[in-house]
Amino acid sequence: MTLDFTTQTLPGGADASKRAAECLRDGGLIGFPTETVYGLGADAANAAAVARLYAAKGRPSFNPLIAHVADFAAARRIAVFDAIAERLASAFWPGPLTLVLPKAAGCAVADLATAGLETVAIRVPAHPVAQTILRAFGGAVVAPSANRSGHVSPTTAAHVLADLGGRIDLIIDGGPVTVGVESTIVGCVGSPMLLRPGGVPREAIERVLGRPLGTSSPSPTAAPVAPGMLASHYAPRATVRLTAAVVKPGEALLAFGPDLPPGAEAAIALRNLSPRGDLAEAAANLFGYLRELDGCGASAIAVMPIPNEGLGEAINDRLRRAAAPRD
Ligand code: TXA
Ligand code: MG
Repeated sequence: MTLDFTTQTLPGGADASKRAAECLRDGGLIGFPTETVYGLGADAANAAAVARLYAAKGRPSFNPLIAHVADFAAARRIAVFDAIAERLASAFWPGPLTLVLPKAAGCAVADLATAGLETVAIRVPAHPVAQTILRAFGGAVVAPSANRSGHVSPTTAAHVLADLGGRIDLIIDGGPVTVGVESTIVGCVGSPMLLRPGGVPREAIERVLGRPLGTSSPSPTAAPVAPGMLASHYAPRATVRLTAAVVKPGEALLAFGPDLPPGAEAAIALRNLSPRGDLAEAAANLFGYLRELDGCGASAIAVMPIPNEGLGEAINDRLRRAAAPRD
């Protein structure tokens, strides 16, 4: 498939959302902001548009996509909610939570977008620009993160343009995202399982459920429960070295907190995710800083340890993937 688009960028607003909705109706591809990361959207019901989306991303087509809808009423037309799913939806939607649920009868999401599974992943994003686009469009929009497959997820419109310029029709610029890591994915087929840590901390979900969430171990060789969880999925080009206690010669430093490790003063480049040690601030900065440090010519990016609580679980998950061996 040839991909030769002129990609237009528009500032978010009512006119831009109308244009985005028209583009989706015509089977086009749009980059748009959500509170987690920028998404690459296509009409979920249009298999040809979904095929174009996979091609633009260069994504293996066995990876199912998340269907984005404006509200709970729209979600119910796509999936079957049991009592637990309803409780989670009412606690966290709109927001950075994705639920994997059985498909409803007449679910309008193309089989290609769900990779032929009997389940569908759904989320109601909170970002006002995403909301106006979804309302103007009316249907479900499937949207993976708007990066080339295997690259770091985009947290600004400029990141989307850098990865997908010339491959998609339109980018709506809603400024930098606020959450900065992808949505938390909870499987609600049987007892609830954490399929991917993300923007809603595990602890917040467990408080609502009143019990611990099961965890699926994301093994790259296991059957595709959440196939997007392939090991090296969020990879920058430079090597990533985790839980660094020192900075070695030639390395860049991705820091966290007020106290820097020995060798920091000689780092090729330094970004601090949160000098005051705030995990929400760190999540918002994560992908942008990885991109910046990746472009600085260092042989490796040394990453300081990050506490594994709250949003730290999602941050550490993405960092482990960035550090995983590549093919
Ligand atoms: O925050 C987000 O979730 C962003 C924004 C754009 O909404 N989207 C996102 O999509 O991260 P993507 O395609 O990068 O990740 C979707 C994840 C993958 O791990 C995929 O395997 C999983 O959702 N998934 C989708 N449908 C599934 C299903 N039926 N069962 C299990 N996992 C599913
Ligand atoms: Mg992604």
